[in-house]
Amino acid sequence: MYQRALSNTAFRTLYIDGFAGTGEVPLAEIKDDLLDEEVRTVIAGSADRALKVDPPFGRYIFIDKRKDCIEALKAKFDDSQNAERAAYVVGDANEQIQGICRAEQWRSQRGVVLLDPFGSQVHWETIEAIAATEALDLWYLFPAGLSVFRQISSDGKVDPTHAPSLTRMYGPNKWQSAFLKPSTQGDLFGDTVSHEKVVTPESAAQFMIECLRSVFKGGVMDEMIPLGKHAYPSYYLLFAWGNASPKATALANRLSKAALKATDRKYGRIV
Ligand SMILES: C[S@@+](CC[C@H](N)C(=O)[O-])C[C@H]1O[C@@H](n2cnc3c(N)ncnc32)[C@H](O)[C@@H]1O
Repeated sequence: MYQRALSNTAFRTLYIDGFAGTGEVPLAEIKDDLLDEEVRTVIAGSADRALKVDPPFGRYIFIDKRKDCIEALKAKFDDSQNAERAAYVVGDANEQIQGICRAEQWRSQRGVVLLDPFGSQVHWETIEAIAATEALDLWYLFPAGLSVFRQISSDGKVDPTHAPSLTRMYGPNKWQSAFLKPSTQGDLFGDTVSHEKVVTPESAAQFMIECLRSVFKGGVMDEMIPLGKHAYPSYYLLFAWGNASPKATALANRLSKAALKATDRKYGRIV
């Protein structure tokens, strides 16, 4: 839908996959039940799907910090129709994407960034850099259940090793006051201040939506799309767009509706 809309304009287009993987996702990683239902053991990953988009993006940048993933990607797509449009980078998504956002000319270019981390790898500065281009759309698989909700214990304690990863994801936005409620209890020795855990996976994602709103000039999808195989959503798919023009917003609204419609709620994935 994005490429169909942009192909009638003068913009060059770019797809950036920050956590590109190998081009294939083992189904066992997604949902065991699917193995009974289908004979396939892998499904097409994000890079594969992006390269098959018709009309294709002008350029593709696939980033993964694992050399073996990038080599597998290259080998898989070397002979594909759009091979000459693709660049493959071994490196940290944060460093690479911030560098691309700074180095590229955005006036004549539009694009899509997909961030599909395993956990808390996306730094807030990367989100800011993407928003600052005012040219990129962001689809962010935000690990609200996995890397936020589960990192805060039910008595409101945050392990000292986990607090920095929350701060890394949310940046200067005060996650502590959004997720923990102070409660004062009196005992023989005076008052002690402890914290009550008030965060849920949904409120963790909602808070990220508000953080995105503070930097994306275009807008942020109101809804969040729950994905993941656990009883609570491990991830929510969030969508934000950097360009504030009425045309970009109209397209973003159509993309949001389509993504919501395409969600397979049963298996927690986009189909
Ligand atoms: C969930 S998988 C991505 C799956 C992929 N989007 C797909 O649909 O096939 C996450 C990937 O991120 C990579 N990764 C982890 N930390 C990274 C980082 N800091 N920068 C770039 N890639 C990273 C891992 O090697 C792994 O391949």
